[in-house]
Amino acid sequence: MITKFSYGTPVETFAVVKDFPSAGHEQLRHFSRKKGTVQYFTCMLGEEDIVYGLGETMRGVNKRGGRYISFNYDDPHHKDDMPSMYGAHNFLIVDGEEPFGAFFDTPSKVVFDIDSKGSGVLSVACETQDLRLYIIEGETPYGIVKQFLGIIGRSFLPPLWAFGYGQSRWGYKTERDISRVAAKHEEAGIPLDYICMDIDYMDRYIDFTVNKRRFPNMAGFSAKLKGKGLHLVPIVDAGIKIEPGNPVYSEGVEKEYFCKNHEGTFFKAEVWPGMTHFPDFFQEKVRRWFGDQYKFYTDSGLEGFWNDMNEPAIFSTEYRAKDTKPDVGRGDVDQPERHIADFKDFFHRLDDGREKSNYEVHNLYGALMTRASGEGLGRLLDRRYLLFSRSSYIGAHRYGGIWTGDNASTWEMLRQNVYHMPSLNMCGFLYSGADTGGFGGNCDRELLLRWLAVSVFTPLMRNHTAIFTRNQECYRFRKVEDFRTVVSLRYRLLPYLYSEFMKAALRQDMLIRPLAFDYPGDEKARHIHDQLMVGESVMIAPVLEKGVKGRVVYLPEPMTEVRWSSEGFTCIEVGAGERTVMAPLHQVVFYIRKGKLVPVGKQVSNTSELDLMDVELLGTGTEYEQYADDGYTKDCGLNRCVLRRKA
Ligand code: GLC
Repeated sequence: MITKFSYGTPVETFAVVKDFPSAGHEQLRHFSRKKGTVQYFTCMLGEEDIVYGLGETMRGVNKRGGRYISFNYDDPHHKDDMPSMYGAHNFLIVDGEEPFGAFFDTPSKVVFDIDSKGSGVLSVACETQDLRLYIIEGETPYGIVKQFLGIIGRSFLPPLWAFGYGQSRWGYKTERDISRVAAKHEEAGIPLDYICMDIDYMDRYIDFTVNKRRFPNMAGFSAKLKGKGLHLVPIVDAGIKIEPGNPVYSEGVEKEYFCKNHEGTFFKAEVWPGMTHFPDFFQEKVRRWFGDQYKFYTDSGLEGFWNDMNEPAIFSTEYRAKDTKPDVGRGDVDQPERHIADFKDFFHRLDDGREKSNYEVHNLYGALMTRASGEGLGRLLDRRYLLFSRSSYIGAHRYGGIWTGDNASTWEMLRQNVYHMPSLNMCGFLYSGADTGGFGGNCDRELLLRWLAVSVFTPLMRNHTAIFTRNQECYRFRKVEDFRTVVSLRYRLLPYLYSEFMKAALRQDMLIRPLAFDYPGDEKARHIHDQLMVGESVMIAPVLEKGVKGRVVYLPEPMTEVRWSSEGFTCIEVGAGERTVMAPLHQVVFYIRKGKLVPVGKQVSNTSELDLMDVELLGTGTEYEQYADDGYTKDCGLNRCVLRRKA
C-alpha cells in the first residue's frame, strides 16, 4: 500500500508517474515530523533492523550506521564516509518488524542520518518546506521495492550493443588512437562493442563540435567502425562554452536559455572548456532545444552518449576562484562553502513559473539534462539509443542509465561497485555500472581481471580510466588470453543477461538483488552483501580481495556451481551451506539456482554476430522464459518464448 503526503508547494520532480491523492498529515505513521527551518522526520529502528536503498551512496548495502547527504556533487574521493556522490536517490526501506519504504521526493538537499550514533534513531532532514513523501507498506523489502518501481515508471531500454563490452580512456585523442584500440582488441580476440570518446574528440572541449584535425570525417569513421560491429560513444558535458560565433552558444544567449545569476546576467562557471553557461534544463523549451542539438552527432551515425559534469561540476566562477586546497577528508562536513555559494548564485525558471536558485532544486539538474538528451534522441533516432549520465535523480532512469563516476583502481572501489548495484536497482537504475578497472590511480592485472569478472554481470560493462594513469586496456597486460576468457563470458551469457534485463525493465522489477530479497527468512543470507542475485537464475560470489585464490561462498539452497574457463563451462551440483571455492584469475565461478536454467550463446566478437536464440541451457531447471528481439526496435513488447530442456 502506498500513501502520499504533500507538504508546502512541491517542485515537480517527474520521479513518480502515477497520480495519487494526498493523505491527511495526521495519517503519517512510521515517522514523526517536526517542522522548522527544515522538515525533519524521525523514527526508531529496532535492534536488528536493516535499512536498504539510497541508490548511489557509499558504505554498503545496509545503510545503517552512516550519514548520507543527497546533494549531487563531483568528488572523486570515494571514501567510505563520503556523504554525497553524483546522484540523489532518496528512497529507503526499513526491514524491521513492520517493513516500510519511504521516498522523500524533493530536489533540495536531504540529510539522512541512519542511526550513525548507535542510538537507534533514523532521521531525515529535508532542507525545504515543499516536498512529497511516499510511504510504502508491504510484507517484505522486495515487495516494497516492487511497489516503488511500479510508480516511478519503466527503466530506459538500451539497445543490445549497449550490453557488450566497452573500452574507454580519457586520453584517446585521434581517429588513429581509437582505430588502434579497435584493432588491438581484434588482434587479441577480445570481444568489443563500443569505444568511448572523452572530451578530446571535441574542438577545445566545446559540446556539439568535433576537432576536425583529429577526426576529419566523423560520419565516415563511425560508418567504418559500424561495419566491424563497433559503436562510438562521445561524451557531452553540461556547460556550453562562452564563445561568440559558436551557433549553440549564440542561440542560447539570444533565446535566454542559460541560467542567470543574482545580477540578472548569465551565470559564468569554469569547467573543461573554460568559462561556460549552464542551460536551464528546468524549462521544457530549453530541454527540447538541448535535446535537438544531438542531431549534430546522430547525423554522423552516432547512437550512444555519455553525459557528464552535470551535478553541475564547477571549477571556478567569475566570483570565486578555484579551491587551493583539495576537497579531501571531508568526512562529516558538507560540501565546501565555496560550492554552496556557487549553487546559490544561479537560478532556474520552473515550468510552473517559479524561480528557484540552483541550491534549492540542485539534485534535479543532471536528471533534467538526461531527460533533455533522452527525449531528443527519442525524436532523432528510429531505434533505441545508449545514454548514461554521471548525475541523476530518480525518474532519470526512464531516459538513460548511470555510471558511478570517478572511482579509483583499488580493491575497496571494486567492493563498492558490488554494493552499489542492488541499491541502484532498488531506485530504478537498472542500466548502471562502474568504471571497470577504476578511474583514478593505476590498475594492475589482478585487479582488472577480478573487476571484469564482476562487470560481466553489470548491464553497463565499460573499462574507463583517467588521463595520466597506467593504460588499462586488456591487451596491455601479460597473458592476454586470460582477459579474453573473462570478457568472453559476458558474450556467452548475453542471451541470459539481456533477457533478464528486459524482463526486469518491462515488468518494473529489479535485475540485481541482495540475497535477502530472494531468500526471506534466511538469517545468514540477510547479512551477506558481497554476493548478489542477477536475474532469476544466477547468484554471483565474486572474489574481492587481493592476492587470494578463492573465497567462502554461502549457498542458501543447493545450486549448480558453474566454472567458466578457456575450456568452456563445467558444472557441478553443490549442497546448501558454506563452501570454500577456488577461483583462479583465469576462471569465473558463478551459481545457478536449483530448478533454474541459464541460456548461453555462441562465442562472438561483438553483439552484431550474436543470435540470442542459438543457445544451450545450463542448470537443473526444465523451462526458461527467454526474452529476445532484434536488439534495437523501440517500444518492444515483451517478446518472449519458453525454452524447454529436452528430456
Ligand atoms: C570527469 C568524468 C570522467 C571523464 C573526465 C574527463 O571526471 O567523470 O569520466 O573522463 O571528466 O572528461
